[in-house]
Amino acid sequence: MPIEQTEVQAKIMQVLDTITEEWDDDLDEEVTLTSKLVEDVGFASIDFVQFAVAIESEFKQKLGFQALLMQDGAYVDDLSLQQVVDFVFTRLNADPVAEAPVPNAAPKESNVQRIESVEDPVTAEMVEEFRKIIRPCAPHSVPSKKNKPAVFILSPPRSGSTLLRIMLAGCPELFVPPELHLLSYVDMKERLAALDDEHNRHLLEGTIRALMQLKNWSGEEARKFSKACEENGMSCQAFYNILQIAAGDRLLVDKTPTYAVNLDILKNAENDFENAKYIHLQRHPCGTIRSYEESKLTRMMPLMKDSEFSSRALAEMTWLTCHQNTLKFAEQVPSDRILAVQYENLVKQPEVEMRRICEFLGVDFNPEMLNPYKDQDQRMTDGVDVASKMSGDLKFHLHQNIDPAAADRWRQFYSEEILGDVTKDVAKRCGYDI
Ligand code: A3P
Repeated sequence: MPIEQTEVQAKIMQVLDTITEEWDDDLDEEVTLTSKLVEDVGFASIDFVQFAVAIESEFKQKLGFQALLMQDGAYVDDLSLQQVVDFVFTRLNADPVAEAPVPNAAPKESNVQRIESVEDPVTAEMVEEFRKIIRPCAPHSVPSKKNKPAVFILSPPRSGSTLLRIMLAGCPELFVPPELHLLSYVDMKERLAALDDEHNRHLLEGTIRALMQLKNWSGEEARKFSKACEENGMSCQAFYNILQIAAGDRLLVDKTPTYAVNLDILKNAENDFENAKYIHLQRHPCGTIRSYEESKLTRMMPLMKDSEFSSRALAEMTWLTCHQNTLKFAEQVPSDRILAVQYENLVKQPEVEMRRICEFLGVDFNPEMLNPYKDQDQRMTDGVDVASKMSGDLKFHLHQNIDPAAADRWRQFYSEEILGDVTKDVAKRCGYDI
């Protein structure tokens, strides 16, 4: 039965209320249909995505928000609530066949200004300065017994790691939860102290979601157990072991993009696990930089927010540092335990890449790995308390399938000439033709 516009409107207002209720600041003015989400309600770009995901969850349907939020390949600056209501109403009443995405549609002509070069490209000296703001990581003591093998996805943020995680989660021989954020810390107490603030608290949720899935626990039960581990100062290696035992024969895969930022964190994996395997996930530096800037990641990281560097330079140096570290780490690991995968290949030829990864991991390829939007519960694409709060890239929810066009979207905005020579060198070592 077709849904009325007034009902759509009421539900969307309710979703918006729930989102803004959690904010510290009270809204000055009453929100009406003409209110602009950025200007009047105070949205940041990431809030758009959370809003879209929460609306889809309310109507229990994918609505293809990418079409509303992205114009000419760039995310819109602002939208009125009326525009959102109209879009949802139209989509809910649309013919599903007519609305199906057009595969390989030709990209629209863009009127976006492309940046060809920048005045201060990143230099080795800048990278040295940047490395000083990275949190140090204490080495783990040598354990009496190593954990059984696990897999680590190593990449900077914005490399397509959430998509890769959710694709891998389609394999019954793997257990692939949201970001665990364990390897960086000696014990659960240190982890809590480092992450329990308004900017990072959501990073504590991946382990909770993993426990819920493995033990069939409610969020409350999983939180209670975690709290006890934190209070007892359980080592992170022991916590991993609990997850691995509960996962049974399934191989644990941990995708946490902050690991690669510090070589000492990577060394912990060799210290704590028997024959760990590593997927070195790469993406063209310009694609990562563009994605990083769009998601306003630096806004959410206090150390970076206060930095003198531009957000573009911070994005480039994050890319560079993570890949420099991973390439160095790869020299210390037998070559049959580390595999390089490029995001561009993953989205353009997913089956070829998935088969290659399965062979490397020693598991059977399963066609479900190519359907990342199926079996969302088993793939843990929701948050602990609310669906719209998965820890990881929320933009995953804006896509409706593996989107090959996402690989080269950056070309509308940047030329490779914006990159520093030091970045170009590392990109070449990763196999990019720059
Ligand atoms: P863009 O911001 O360039 O769109 P990560 O998970 O490592 O943070 O990576 C985020 C990037 O993966 C985002 O890039 C996001 O759009 C992209 N991504 C997520 N789901 C995708 C999908 N289904 N197809 C293609 N790219 C996807």
